[in-house]
Amino acid sequence: MVVGDRLKWSMKLRIFFMVAGFAALSCGGGGLPGDVQRFESRCVKMNANPIAIRVNDPHPGTKDVYACNLDAGTVKANTRPFPDGTLIVKSSTRIGEDFIWLVATARKQAGEWQWDEYTRNFSNETFARVPVSESTCTDCHATVATSDWIYTTAAP
Ligand code: HEC
Repeated sequence: MVVGDRLKWSMKLRIFFMVAGFAALSCGGGGLPGDVQRFESRCVKMNANPIAIRVNDPHPGTKDVYACNLDAGTVKANTRPFPDGTLIVKSSTRIGEDFIWLVATARKQAGEWQWDEYTRNFSNETFARVPVSESTCTDCHATVATSDWIYTTAAP
C-alpha cells in the first residue's frame, strides 16, 4: 500500500515537472534563471521604441530593456542608484529573425551589479549562460558609472 502510494506520488511529481518544464520552454524562458523568466510580462519596459543596433554592438539586434522588481513609478522617475534587488534585463532580436536570441542581465545585490548573459540560436532552443567574464561587461558599462552603470533611462 505505502509503496504504491509513493509510486503514485513520484509519477505525479514527474508529470508536474514535465508540464512545468514544457510551460517554461514554450514561453521561451527555458534555460533562463527563475527570476528572469517572463520578464516581458513581469517587468517594466524602459525604452519607448525598440533600441536599434549600434556600431560594434556587443548584443547585435533590436533591443528592449526592462526593469524588474520595481514599481512603474519608481522606474519612470529614473532615480539612481537603483536599490538592491533590482534586476535589469536587456533582450535582443537579430535582424531578420523573430525570436529573442540574447538576454543580458544586471542584478543588484549588496550595492553591486552582477552581470550575466544567455543566448540561443533557435526559437525552440534552451538559453545557455555565456561564460563571459564580468569585466567584459563592466569595462564598457563604466562609461555610464555616474548613472549607476546603466545606459538606458526610462521613457516618461
Ligand atoms: C562595448 C560596450 C558594451 C559591452 C561590452 C557590454 N554592454 Fe551592456 N550595454 C551597452 C549599451 C550601449 C547598452 C544600452 C542599450 C543598447 O544600445 O544596447 C547596454 C545595455 C545593457 C543592459 C540594459 C541596461 C542598460 O545599461 O541600459 C544590460 C542588462 C547589459 N547591457 C548587460 C551587459 C552584460 C551582461 C554584458 C557583458 C556580458 C554587457 N552588457 C556588455 C554596452 C555594452
